[in-house]
Order: sequence, then structure tokens, then C-alpha cells
Amino acid sequence: MARTATLTFNDRSIQLPVVEGSEGELGLDISKLRSETGLITLDPGYGNTGACTSAITFIDGEKGVLRYRGIPIEELARESTFVEVAWLLIFGRLPQQAELDDFRERLVRNAALHEAFRHHFEGFLVDAPPMAILSAMVNTIACFPRRGTEDESPEERFLEDASQLISKVRTIAACSYRRAMGLPFVYPDSKLPYVANFLHMMFSAPYAEHVASPEVVDALNLILLLHADHEQNCSTSTVRIVGSSQANIYASCAAAVGALWGPLHGGANMAVLEMLEKIHKGGISAADAIKMAKDSSSGFRLMGFGHRVYKNFDPRAKILKQAADKVLGQLGVKDPLLDVARQLEEMALKDSYFVDRRLYPNVDFYSGIIMRAIGIPTNMFTVIFAIGRMPGWIAQWKEQADDPKARIARPRQIYTGPTEKRYVPIDQR
Ligand code: ACO
Repeated sequence: MARTATLTFNDRSIQLPVVEGSEGELGLDISKLRSETGLITLDPGYGNTGACTSAITFIDGEKGVLRYRGIPIEELARESTFVEVAWLLIFGRLPQQAELDDFRERLVRNAALHEAFRHHFEGFLVDAPPMAILSAMVNTIACFPRRGTEDESPEERFLEDASQLISKVRTIAACSYRRAMGLPFVYPDSKLPYVANFLHMMFSAPYAEHVASPEVVDALNLILLLHADHEQNCSTSTVRIVGSSQANIYASCAAAVGALWGPLHGGANMAVLEMLEKIHKGGISAADAIKMAKDSSSGFRLMGFGHRVYKNFDPRAKILKQAADKVLGQLGVKDPLLDVARQLEEMALKDSYFVDRRLYPNVDFYSGIIMRAIGIPTNMFTVIFAIGRMPGWIAQWKEQADDPKARIARPRQIYTGPTEKRYVPIDQR
């Protein structure tokens, strides 16, 4: 029997249907609330608001569970690659070999940017924020229509759009780095797989190809895979809101890059490294930093610790901690900032302030450490997050576009401004 909840207001009661997800999550369907009672709901930050149903990613923050299309993140991290996970997220199941080969071939074919993009890059100052460049360039891809055949099916068109986005976001990221460094752009190499090709475009010197070590390729593959989706977060909700007006997928993903940029979202990984630098350069001991973080009047927080959803551990952080230890050992990296990070982590995990508040290292703590160790500059960290999140944005855009019940996003508000008053001519004010 369908479950309902009863809401009583002004002596009138209405039944609200209860919706149950496949993992037993319950939600109150309030879509008829306003028409039947005149009430709306008020939920700043949407902490209690489900804006959609989705079959893509499941998170249980209390238990530290994260699954893409039902598959635990730990299994995917161990067995899969970023490119296979991208296909899984977008199409809802693991690909057959022929499907994966076809997808890889599309990524190779779509890696290069139209030559006109050079002029777009030249229009930016060399120190322009890479996230600003990325957002502008992702939007710009839509201005260069593909030469598809006239009888191209909608499925084929979508697959090509998805491949362009996933492939070109990496080329754009590398070009923005090369421009900032005053280096010539490096064209993609069709022989290289996804991550190795990105590292080639980032780091190859003129006439000397950069060959990334397998350890570095694996570490970056893992970072991208672990960032590939995280259900209805700020940037993903942005994709859905922009896409709900039937804006194209490029415009929707460009908007998501802007949402990801902020320090409360994707920008947090940069904040971790900036904090470590501040502690190191300021000669602050790890013990003093922990003391400051515990003092709410200091205005200092341990960046990379705590999470709104994960309260026991962040499963992505657990995987990345092991990867950080491995890759740092393999590369023989000696870096004073990494020592600071290790000391902070060790002390915080034993400190009752952090233990009592269930504050554990989150994904940003370790991803920043790994990216630094493999030579990615701090101001590119959030760009790497965007490359990783692109398949999730695409999957969520598509799920909504295919939903016959989807409507344009149009929240309501409770107005708190002045009530009606008269216009006063300027000489009488
Ligand atoms: N350092 C010190 N104290 C902290 C920290 C921290 N990193 N995080 C939370 N606390 C304390 C708060 O001061 C508060 O203490 P109180 O109860 O004595 O007042 C308590 O823990 C609860 O904190 P809230 O801010 O209410 O927790 P919330 O769930 O709102 O915030 C957040 C989560 C934003 C992630 C927070 O823990 C934080 O600011 N962390 C540092 C920034 C960070 O790493 N962000 C990345 C998140 S992961 C991601 O975006 C991929």
C-alpha cells in the first residue's frame, strides 16, 4: 500500500505521498503542496530538498558508502579506469569491450581543438584563473558545430557531444597551463591513452616528449575516477538547473565549471595546499596549527577536514590516502609540505576535538598532496577536479533530458522586502 504523510494547516489536512528509493531512502512528494494549501517549503541550501530522482550515484554518508550505478567506489578504484567509469556513469551499465573501444576511439578523435581556439587563449592574460578560461572554452566548443551526417541519430549526436566534452576539457586544461607558463601548446597524441595524453599535453617540452611514469598515470586516473560523480552537489545541480531550460550540454557544463570554482566546493583542494604553505612558510608547528583550528575565534580551520555528508569517513579519502603513500614512496618525493600534512593528519586523528565532531580528512586533503607530488601546480587543482567531474555532469544532464516528467527549474521564495509603496519623483526625495 502506498504510504502517505499527513500535513495539517489551518484546520485542513492533506495527504502527501511518500516516495521510496531503491536503497530505502524516503522522501515526501510535495509537488501538490502549493496548489492544495497555498504553502511553499523553505529550505535554504536545499539540505532537505530532493530536486529529482536519479539512478546514477548513491551515497550513504553515515556508513561512508559511495556507489556509481550500484558498483562500490572501492571496486571501481581497484578494477576500472576513468574512461570506463565515464561510460558506466553516462550509459548506466559497464560497457562491452567493443563499446569501450568505440568510446576510446571517439575520445582520441575529439581531442584536438579547432585552430581558432588559439586566438581565444591569446585573448586571456597569462595569469587569468584557469577555471575562468575553462568555463569560457567549454561554452565555446558549442560555437564550432561538428560536421555530423544529416541522418545522424540523437543517440549518435549525444555520444559525440559527450566524447567532445570529456576529451576537449583535458586539452583546454593543458592549453591554459601552457599559456600561463609561456610555453607553446602541445597537440594531443592519438597513440596515448586518456591520462597519459593529458600529461603529455601539459608537460612535454618542445621537441622532447614527456613520458609519464605508470605510477603517475595510475594516480591521476584514480583521482579523476574518484571525482567522476557525487550526486546532487552544487555544480551538478547547476548542470540540471541550466539544462532544465533546454540549454545545450556545453552551456550547462560551462555553468557547472563556474559553480565548482568556489572554495566551498571544488576550490577546497587549492585551499588545502595554500594552508600547508601558510603553516610551513610561517614557521607554525603542526601542534600550533591544530590548536588554532580548535579555537573558533581564530578564524582558522583545518582545510581538507570535515564533510557535510560523510560523518565517519570519506570513502574517496580512504582510497586516496593509500594511493598518496604509494605514489610518494614510488616517486621518492621529499617535500616539506607533505611532512606538514602528515603531522597534521596524525595529530588531528588522535585529538578529541576532531574525533568528537567526527572530522576526518576528506578527498581534498589527499588529492592535493598527490597532485603536488606529480607536478600539477596548485592553481590547476580545481581544473583537474572539473576534468574528473565531467562524466558525472554529462550523465546527470542526460538523465534529466530523457525524463519526460522533468520541468524547468523554478524555485519559489518567501518575499521579505517592502510592501507596496509609491514612486517618489527625484526632486522630492
Ligand atoms: N577544522 C576545525 N573545526 C572544524 C572543521 C575543520 N576543518 N570542520 C568543522 N569544524 C567544527 C566546527 O567549528 C563545528 O564546531 P562546533 O560544533 O564547536 O561549533 C563543528 O566542527 C561542525 O562544523 P560545521 O561547520 O557545522 O560542519 P558542516 O557540515 O557545516 O561543514 C565543511 C562541513 C564545510 C566541509 C567543514 O567541515 C569545513 O569547513 N571543512 C574545511 C573545508 C574543506 O575541507 N572543504 C572540503 C569539503 S569536501 C569537498 O568539497 C569535495
